This record gives sequence, C-alpha cells and structure tokens, in this order.
Amino acid sequence: MSLIDQIDRNRVPEHVAIIMDGNGRWAKQRGNQRIFGHKNGVKAVKAATEAAGEIGVKYLTLYAFSTENWNRPKSEVDALMGLLVDTINSEMETLLKNGIRVLTIGDRSMLPPDVQRKLNDVIVRTASCTTITTVLALNYGSRLEITEAVKKIAIDAQQGKLSAEQITPVTISDYLYTANIPDPALLIRTSGELRLSNFLLWQLAYTELYFTPVLWPDFTKDDFFKAIIDYQKRERRFGKTSEQL
Ligand code: FPP
Repeated sequence: MSLIDQIDRNRVPEHVAIIMDGNGRWAKQRGNQRIFGHKNGVKAVKAATEAAGEIGVKYLTLYAFSTENWNRPKSEVDALMGLLVDTINSEMETLLKNGIRVLTIGDRSMLPPDVQRKLNDVIVRTASCTTITTVLALNYGSRLEITEAVKKIAIDAQQGKLSAEQITPVTISDYLYTANIPDPALLIRTSGELRLSNFLLWQLAYTELYFTPVLWPDFTKDDFFKAIIDYQKRERRFGKTSEQL
C-alpha cells in the first residue's frame, strides 16, 4: 500500500509546522556553495506544500528565515532574499490555481523593500484562496514575538483597553503573529538536529515533535506522509490519562 493510502483522512493534523534544516550540509556534500542547497530546498517546499494540500492539512508553517539568520554572510542572506522573490514570481500562478493562500509571521519591516513589496503582492493576491494556508516565518523569532506581544499588552493595559486580571493564555495567543491560526498539531524538523531554535515556543506547547535525518533538499512528499503516519500512531492526551480520552 502506498504511504498516502495509509493516512487516516479523519485525523489529519490541521496545522503542520516545519523547520527546514540541512540545506548547507546537502550542498557541502556535493562540493557546492550553501545557496545551491537553498535553491534545491525550494523543490522540497513545493513537495511539502503539495503533499499537505493533498491530504487536507489546512495550515503549513515553514521556518524560512529566523531573526538569527541575519548573522550569516551577507552573500547568503542576499541570495536567500533573492530566492524568495524569484520563487514567488515563478509560483504565483500555481498558488492561485491550487488555492494556496500565503501569509507571513515575523517582522517584515526589516526585510529589503523589494522583498516586502513582493510579499505584500502575494499575500493580497492569494487572500481568498481556501485549499491551504502556507505561513512563511520570515525574520521570525519566538522570543521577539513574545516580547512584542507583552509590550502591546502592557500598552493596551496602560490605555485601559484591558486589565491585568483579564489577561489569560488566550489573550497572549491573540497578541502573537499567529493570532487566528490554530496551534500546530505536528512539528517536523529535518537534518537530524533535535532543537526548536526559537521557533513557535508558545504555540508548540502540546505539539507532537517529529525529527528526521533527511536533509531538507532531499525531503519528498513520501517523507511528509511518513511524518503524518507517525503522528497518527501517537496518542495526544493534553495532560489527561489514556482512560479519560
Ligand atoms: C536551513 O538550512 C535553511 C534555511 C535557513 C533557509 C530555508 C530556505 C529555503 C528552503 C528556501 C526559500 C524558502 C521559500 C519559502 C521559497 P541550513 O542553511 O541551516 O543548513 P545547514 O544546517 O546544513 O547549514
């Protein structure tokens, strides 16, 4: 039986998040520059999006550029930004045809102006797409996100829009970039690293974690389906006992 047929369509995670890791090592193994790995990583982005759409995942969040990634050599940062613009240009029609809505999380105001314009363009043009939402984490870092949320809550409290007693975990969620997006049910990280790297720390509180040694450019639709099958074998208890479920 093919992998996709082993998936229970009634228990597909609504939101899958991915830390796409291993592009640099993949390129190095082939005696190439790191950007060669990123370019091939775009193929895996397409494969994961297609696979997610096929089985009915509604949100796919991809860690494309972290707040820490600015520390990489300027040539690599520039190449990643260029790749983002090129990919949006080449994929725009496919996104619209397949009903793929694009959103971002992270501080876009720090990105180069042409990248910001392109992102605004794709966000507006795909706004009414309903098959799947691809959330690109760009200049994203969880601690910064939470810090910014706390600042906004403090300002709203100062201005009398809410009181300290009214603040609940839901309030915090509502002030994050991911307000209105359900928490991920499954997190996938490629390349064998066992870390969260400042990604969605609040939102991953009850998320199932799946680590694979596959380097991101090698990640296929079947690798995505394997992660879903593994997820479906697990019991999500949210602090309860098995008997209470
Ligand atoms: C991690 O590999 C990957 C990144 C920091 C960038 C991911 C970007 C893409 C896949 C392409 C652009 C994305 C879109 C959505 C068009 P690494 O460089 O940290 O690899 P290493 O750990 O082997 O060095």
